[in-house]
Amino acid sequence: MFTINSVPIKQIGYGAMVLEGYYGQSEDNSAIETLIHAIDQNMMIDTADAYGAGHNEILIKQSMEQSGKDAFVATKFGIVFEEDQTGSRLDTGWGFPLTINGTKPYVSRAIDNSLGRLGVEQIDLLYAHYLDPNTPLEETVSAMADAVKKGKVKAIGLSNVTADEIIRANKVHPISAVQYEYSLFRREAEHEILPAVKSIGAALVCWSPLGAGFLTGTVKDLDDGDFRNNNPKMQGENFTNNLQRFEHIRKISVDLGITPAQLALAWLIAQGDNIIPIPGSRKKSRIDENLAALDIELSSEVMGKLDTIAPIGAFKGATLV
Ligand SMILES: NC(=O)c1ccc[n+]([C@@H]2O[C@H](COP(=O)([O-])OP(=O)(O)OC[C@H]3O[C@@H](n4cnc5c(N)ncnc54)[C@H](OP(=O)(O)O)[C@@H]3O)[C@@H](O)[C@H]2O)c1
Repeated sequence: MFTINSVPIKQIGYGAMVLEGYYGQSEDNSAIETLIHAIDQNMMIDTADAYGAGHNEILIKQSMEQSGKDAFVATKFGIVFEEDQTGSRLDTGWGFPLTINGTKPYVSRAIDNSLGRLGVEQIDLLYAHYLDPNTPLEETVSAMADAVKKGKVKAIGLSNVTADEIIRANKVHPISAVQYEYSLFRREAEHEILPAVKSIGAALVCWSPLGAGFLTGTVKDLDDGDFRNNNPKMQGENFTNNLQRFEHIRKISVDLGITPAQLALAWLIAQGDNIIPIPGSRKKSRIDENLAALDIELSSEVMGKLDTIAPIGAFKGATLV
């Protein structure tokens, strides 16, 4: 089992972002029930200060209080979401830019705020959500390392970075985890990110491991307010082409007697012990369905078929940051 700072980490974690209504409505009481279930299953809980502008971290605090159990919580800073804060523009490919701040004072303030919202004395794993284009990464990572020295943070990670940035950051302070989009829907991480992550002995924590729901077969059309409308892979002709390709994956899952979500997660887990998908769901039952993928071993024949159906870059639509 992979460990982060000697803490064993279950190879499937829980992504809490979906509890903020980005992919359809979510209501706090059922969100807390779902979170408590994930905590009871000892899953790493993934959040960020920007999810719901701090609300997601508060939900996690309430869930830990109600369950009476501490979870391994990973959070992120860097996306500016408060009106009184400023930062640098980062173009994303989603049709709108993000504002990012990785300066020392911002990092220090963000950590204190996350500690308060989570109601903990130490953050288990802290990621820079995106690097600030106008702040040297050494400044950002040093600020994170200072928080480790002060005992406010246990381990540090990076998200949405390049292979070079991973290697540079690891020289400032050991990087325990890198978070990047990785799934059969988007395999580009295999080119350079995965080798870099392996070379420093870190975990690759895969965001959108179910292709933001696409690989479950439940995403056929999207409501107007759904954040996934911004994803070029789910727009117009790309969406139609991608659904046709997905149909071949779905058929394999039917033949194996498992769900498409389980197939997508089992494929990720088969990529290495340090690969940790963090699927999100608003429903308790889907947490159990997704966790069951831990017990599914795919044959080399099935892995080969999936390589043929979904090689790197097969699903159409520009790659986002
Ligand atoms: N670092 C970053 O920049 C970054 C970016 C994006 C996400 N993340 C993290 O990664 C986590 C996961 O990514 P994600 O939420 O984008 O996408 P995901 O986990 O690939 O997919 C989530 C979607 O899949 C559906 N789903 C989950 N399990 C299912 C199942 N067994 N059957 C059918 N549908 C299922 C959920 O719907 P229901 O709710 O209806 O079940 C939800 O809409 C996020 O929660 C967040 O913590 C990080």
